[in-house]
Amino acid sequence: MVDPPAAAERTVLVTGATSGIGLHTAMGLAGRGMRVIVHGRTIASARRATAAIVGAVPGARLLSVAADFGSLAAVASLASQVRAVSGGSLHVLVNNAGLASGSARRSSDGFELTMAVNHLAPFLLTAALLPTLQANAPARVVTVASVAHAWARPRRGRIPLTDGPGGLRSYAHSKLANVLFTYALARRLQGSTTSATCLHPGAVRTRLGRRGSGGMGMGLLLLWPLALWPQTAARTSILLASDPTVEGISGAYYASGRAVRSSAASHDRQLQEWLWHASEQVTLPFLGAASDVG
Ligand SMILES: NC(=O)c1ccc[n+]([C@@H]2O[C@H](COP(=O)([O-])OP(=O)(O)OC[C@H]3O[C@@H](n4cnc5c(N)ncnc54)[C@H](OP(=O)(O)O)[C@@H]3O)[C@@H](O)[C@H]2O)c1
Repeated sequence: MVDPPAAAERTVLVTGATSGIGLHTAMGLAGRGMRVIVHGRTIASARRATAAIVGAVPGARLLSVAADFGSLAAVASLASQVRAVSGGSLHVLVNNAGLASGSARRSSDGFELTMAVNHLAPFLLTAALLPTLQANAPARVVTVASVAHAWARPRRGRIPLTDGPGGLRSYAHSKLANVLFTYALARRLQGSTTSATCLHPGAVRTRLGRRGSGGMGMGLLLLWPLALWPQTAARTSILLASDPTVEGISGAYYASGRAVRSSAASHDRQLQEWLWHASEQVTLPFLGAASDVG
């Protein structure tokens, strides 16, 4: 077993690090001495976030990358950007970027937008960066899911992957996909020193669901007085991305800093494998571009 390198020698990519939980995860990991690759939808927003992080953590070592997750070609190019800016040194991937769209909207590839951004994009990004992570192992893939995964209702062993209805149902399906993906990935990584975990950050005061999210935004508004601040909610992501106490833990779902049981549907192995293969089929055409040495 190889000893994990000290924090200062480790590099982490945080997607959706421009606001909310992602911004505070990036700040927390920079505070722990890690080199942080800050992903934004645009390079301008990623640079604004790096400025905010340096303000909070003087001396933070930061890099900026950009991609709109509504385009799988852009996600593929992100993998190349990450390899280029990091010099091939990447130890942790935090799949955090996500949205909650109130209506059925389409990605630029024609897929239902919430599932495209919340599941297909991190699926492709992880597949594209896995060789780099494994070359730097011990390595970790941490995916920000949600308790909303338990509201998903798979039908006949399927969830809508590219043509969902939008709104809360698609959000719940996308967050179930995050958990199913994590368990299927952990199984594939068994026996290696690369781990896969996922988490529920809590109900959090962020912009999620506040822009164009219809009834779902209203629901989140009702929870607002009880919701956590993003700096508190980021703690579980920071733990799973960096803490030595969880080294080697894989195939687990965390909430409030500890492993908890996820929904029965998330443990359905057939559903996990169906999702894996269906996601592979959709993203495969983009994986070649993502593997190009950038
Ligand atoms: N807030 C909650 O109560 C809660 C509860 C459970 C789970 N979560 C999960 O926590 C994660 C972070 O959400 P948050 O609450 O921190 O929300 P947030 O403040 O809205 O942050 C979401 C991040 O994802 C990015 N993003 C959204 N759409 C994108 C796209 N098409 N391409 C690239 N980046 C995109 C956003 O970038 P822009 O600024 O450019 O939009 C932003 O950086 C999500 O996965 C969410 O599902 C949140």
